[in-house]
Amino acid sequence: MMTAALLITSGSMAQQPDAKKGEAKKAQTQTRPAAVPLSTTVKSATDIAAQQPEKAGKLYSEWMLPAAKLTFPALPYDLDALEPVIDKLTVEIHYDRHHRAYFNNFIKAVGGTEMETMTIFEIFSKMSELPVSVRNNGGGFFNHVLYWNNLSPKGGGEPGGELGEAITKYFGSFEAFRAKFDEAAKTRFGSGWAWLSVDPEKGELFVSSTANQDNPLMNTESRRGFPILGIDVWEHAYYLKYQNKRADYVESFWKIVNWQDVEARYKQFYEMKDKLFR
Ligand SMILES: [Fe+2]
Repeated sequence: MMTAALLITSGSMAQQPDAKKGEAKKAQTQTRPAAVPLSTTVKSATDIAAQQPEKAGKLYSEWMLPAAKLTFPALPYDLDALEPVIDKLTVEIHYDRHHRAYFNNFIKAVGGTEMETMTIFEIFSKMSELPVSVRNNGGGFFNHVLYWNNLSPKGGGEPGGELGEAITKYFGSFEAFRAKFDEAAKTRFGSGWAWLSVDPEKGELFVSSTANQDNPLMNTESRRGFPILGIDVWEHAYYLKYQNKRADYVESFWKIVNWQDVEARYKQFYEMKDKLFR
């Protein structure tokens, strides 16, 4: 399967004269940072392991690496895979410019500091004491990895299994949960995110929203949790196709939610919870 990074490279070469094509392509490929998979999810990890066997067995703990060792992950699908819900150009700009910039600036912000050796979870747990550049870019980096993995061209429908049961238990029904999540996404003023998270103390599922690139793992949040589903409601996530109609984007979002990924994260919470909120 061709990676998103390669697709971006080959797409931008369409207007090059043939003689220079190969050389320019080689140069551009070399200047791009390698797209290395990074995932906390069982499903995505399995997919990625199939593509890159040498990474197999290391993926589940990759978020536990020191911050300076984290890498920018490949998209788990092609740039146009989420159409018609999210158009190719939006995914390309969102992933290759916005997300990549958050990653690069996060690595820059932690460089040469004690944060280099901390995990991103440890950083989020001390967020209130750390520079705003780490908050914005660390959050932006982490949140978007979750977002891309939460989506799939084969997504949609409703969750089953343990996650489906938990949603019914804590919200009454899937429809009631969805209404609450929709409300959080649509009413978040300005730029931010809406989340479905697991409460680390009680194990309850709850919905919240955060401003800017904050997330429920940060100690700056009034209610902290382990996010398992997130929707980006920054205008850069939807404006090209939906313009100012955020509500239409939120409605369409449900057609591409990767419930297998959300459920894998839900299960992973119980494997990782002791390391998340220290
Ligand atoms: Fe975004």
